[in-house]
Amino acid sequence: MRLPKHGKSEAELFGALERYRENDMPWRDGRTWAYIYDPGPEAEGVIKRAFSMYLTENGLDPTVFPSAMHMENDVIAIAVDLLHGDDQAVGTFTSGGTESIFCAVKAARDWARQERPEVTRPEILLAETGHASFQKAAHYLGLEPVVVPVDPETFLARPEAMREAITPETVMMVGSAISYAHGVVDPIPELGAIAEETGTWLHVDGCMGGFMLHFLQRLGVDIPEYDFRVPGVSSISMDYHKYAFAAKGASVVIYRSRDLRRHQMYACSNWTGYTVINTSVQSTKSAGPVAASWAILNHFGDDGYMDIARKVWAMTEKIVAGVDAIPGLRILGRPQMNMCSFTSDEVSVFHIADEMKELGWYVQPQLAYGSSPENLHLSINPNSERWADDLIADLAKCVERARELPSGELAAKIEAAFSNLDPEDLTPELFQNLLAMAGVDGTALPGRMAEINEVLNALPVPVRERLLVEYLNELYQPTR
Ligand SMILES: Cc1ncc(COP(=O)(O)O)c(C=O)c1O
Repeated sequence: MRLPKHGKSEAELFGALERYRENDMPWRDGRTWAYIYDPGPEAEGVIKRAFSMYLTENGLDPTVFPSAMHMENDVIAIAVDLLHGDDQAVGTFTSGGTESIFCAVKAARDWARQERPEVTRPEILLAETGHASFQKAAHYLGLEPVVVPVDPETFLARPEAMREAITPETVMMVGSAISYAHGVVDPIPELGAIAEETGTWLHVDGCMGGFMLHFLQRLGVDIPEYDFRVPGVSSISMDYHKYAFAAKGASVVIYRSRDLRRHQMYACSNWTGYTVINTSVQSTKSAGPVAASWAILNHFGDDGYMDIARKVWAMTEKIVAGVDAIPGLRILGRPQMNMCSFTSDEVSVFHIADEMKELGWYVQPQLAYGSSPENLHLSINPNSERWADDLIADLAKCVERARELPSGELAAKIEAAFSNLDPEDLTPELFQNLLAMAGVDGTALPGRMAEINEVLNALPVPVRERLLVEYLNELYQPTR
């Protein structure tokens, strides 16, 4: 594509944009069970209206747009309250879980530079179920991630194993509430005790669960304490753009005190332009996401979210029982929120995902790692309630169809050819060979994914990662 010589009409523009999304999953029908957090069309109307009202306002400078700061202070106050912070707790609005986590990792690193200057190679300790964005933040910010195996039955972090992995260089420890892969809450009180004893910064990753767990806990679901009620917790991330149903681009990171948050801030006056003072990673930013968060929180209120929590928990219990009852499938761990995953010891889960796609569903494949076998993940949404029985019926059908499909042959061949490969030796030619063997055209999105997922699943993690980087680097090409 090139910049058109003359501007196009509205009809042409929006017609083209509509056509662009023809191949996207039609998520509004409620059959996309990952990536989407959907309480229904009324809420979508609310976030769209608030977002577009503030779309063009710049959240960079509160002296010019005080409204953005006002809305931010409101939505931070709500988060502090839900997470049981006291009047010392403060926070920052960010663009998503990853940015909140980057902010917390930077804060912990700079806090350690001040409080523990003897540390020279700072480490972050996390369970193997901890979200990848901690490793990404460590990669960007120059920390060393240390990953500890979890309990292979419950998929919970094991406090004694975390304790043993602490070294004089450990500055930060992470617990998940919930972990994305299995929907379970780590034993935060035990991790908090270790953090206090060892002088380590404990961050609770509540990006996925922090919000909804509050309501589920009040409903009596068996969930351990995971917030600022636990002594030893220094910071918590919590995304509004997940189960608070805000527009994408909305998360918060909350600190026990302003003294801790100070280390997250950044100022630069060392150039000729305007002085840069940033609370988070972004500088110029639309006030749309914070406005949409403010609007949806006030739209539902406590009652509205309690109703949603009741609904999604009933759905979760039904789906967990239904999936477990399908011959050949088993749920992993014991989900404590409206997310779960299941595996099969008999059938390729990747074929099941493809078969489900043929029937109009999206369920999310997850590769094997550490204690967790390859599995399929479900994010359970209020707007999908009417589909719960159909999902289970179709899953049962797809397991039987998947039994008939050949699996593992290509993965075994590729594993034999590439498993001893040093990822650094993966040349563009080798990569093209690998893709050709897997039947993938590097520049198009594949339809059926089972063979590709089986190949990725079979390869050692560093080769997997290198391959995915090469693939992305091929896939994103300017439209010519
Ligand atoms: C537990 C957890 N932490 C962090 C993240 C990262 O959030 P984001 O994708 O908004 O950057 C996710 C995303 O799903 C998550 O589930």
